[in-house]
Amino acid sequence: MDKELLEIVFDNLYNGIYLVDGQGVTIAVNRTFEEMSGFTNAELAGKSLYDLVGPDNYFTGSASLLVLERKSPVTATYSTKTGRKLLVKGRPIFDDRGKIRLIVNTIWDLTVVQYSQKIDADTARSQFLSEEDIITCSERMNEVIDLALQVAITDSTILLSGESGVGKSLLAKLIHRSSERKGKPLIQVNCAAIPESLIESELFGYEAGAFTGADRRGKPGFFELADGGTVFLDEISELPIHIQSKLLWVLQDRSFFKVGGREATTVDVRIIAASNKDLAKLVATGGFREDLYYRLNVVPIPLPPLRERREDIPVLIRYFLGKFNRKHRCYKEFSPALVRQLAAGQWPGNIRELENAVERLVVTSRSDRIEPTRAFGLASDPLLHPGQTLKEMVAGYEAEILLKAQQEYGTTRNIAAALGISQATASRKLQQALEDKERSAKAEK
Ligand SMILES: Nc1ncnc2c1ncn2[C@@H]1O[C@H](COP(=O)(O)OP(=O)(O)OP(=O)(O)O)[C@@H](O)[C@H]1O
Ligand SMILES: [Mg+2]
Repeated sequence: MDKELLEIVFDNLYNGIYLVDGQGVTIAVNRTFEEMSGFTNAELAGKSLYDLVGPDNYFTGSASLLVLERKSPVTATYSTKTGRKLLVKGRPIFDDRGKIRLIVNTIWDLTVVQYSQKIDADTARSQFLSEEDIITCSERMNEVIDLALQVAITDSTILLSGESGVGKSLLAKLIHRSSERKGKPLIQVNCAAIPESLIESELFGYEAGAFTGADRRGKPGFFELADGGTVFLDEISELPIHIQSKLLWVLQDRSFFKVGGREATTVDVRIIAASNKDLAKLVATGGFREDLYYRLNVVPIPLPPLRERREDIPVLIRYFLGKFNRKHRCYKEFSPALVRQLAAGQWPGNIRELENAVERLVVTSRSDRIEPTRAFGLASDPLLHPGQTLKEMVAGYEAEILLKAQQEYGTTRNIAAALGISQATASRKLQQALEDKERSAKAEK
């Protein structure tokens, strides 16, 4: 292809493009990126990202710098100073010697233009998902996001699955925001949080005078409120069977009857469902309608748990640390040993648990540099303290048990009885545990 043609393509892509060299210096951006960011190619070309990134700088963060550091593809979202939300996928191109020659960043604009449709304020359980960022350098998550972006522009029904806290809600929001429907509502419905007696009228609405106690004018349901947009049905496995049949109708011909209604209501909605239970298993045991399952499972997107993408842990820690330092107005940092400790954890609660752990460490530590601590789930992962001898680990675990037993049983006599040791041993070991605790508290100061 000739050069002129390539330039035309470069500037007319639907995505923004940002090219960076192996040293982090901007080579060029395309016109779409200029429009998205408000910065021109002339302004950015030749400038190092190390000089462009910072709290009061051009960009709040940079996928390219993460790519340079990790030497692997990275996906991250950022906000621009002009209030736009961008998703950046950075991909390294290596030379013959395995050095990064070029980083190609592809950018999606996730900015949601405010829509004017008024949403009933008392639909408390349905909410607009708040602003949250996505950061990942794991290959599997990059594939997940690729797939999500690819199907976002279609109207396919999507089924997100994965353990609690892996980012299902976050991904649902990403799909909505990168779809043609982004100017219309995204209504999130947590099927587990709505009482069974209300769920039908909440979802489908009711006609005037449908039942005693109902609003005299009737009320629109979530599907109607989401017209033109997306309905995100979270924890779909908790939907009662009779509602499942009604949902099947919506999926088949986008129409339904309101409670007490005689005429069908038709809506234009995209449906995204999520579950942390295995729906196929529920189908096998009769807990979920098989036909509905197939209707929902058009595009299945399974999200891997955090312990299967540990490479994300250090990057997420850095991101959350920045977030909580800003929130709590402090400048704390984690020692490399602490990051290693956290990266070795099991994280059954996934990213949500990691996020909470980082915040807890930031607000509870007294020193600005936070070191490894015993506070992290020795019981769930016995190898959490790399670098310690077996004897030290066992001693640490023992101390933890004694402190817990003291809280639980109070006196050394009761501790001894509960743990099957003599009172003298209980007393000695407890004393030791208390001293250790004091010492590590001092060390943190
Ligand atoms: N890749 C990521 N980068 C940054 N933050 C993330 C990422 N993935 C998840 N989070 C954060 O982790 C928390 C949990 O994510 P989310 O609510 O999407 O999980 P979930 O799978 O919907 O969990 P549940 O099944 O419990 O509803 C959120 O605060 C979210 O912003
Ligand atoms: Mg969720």
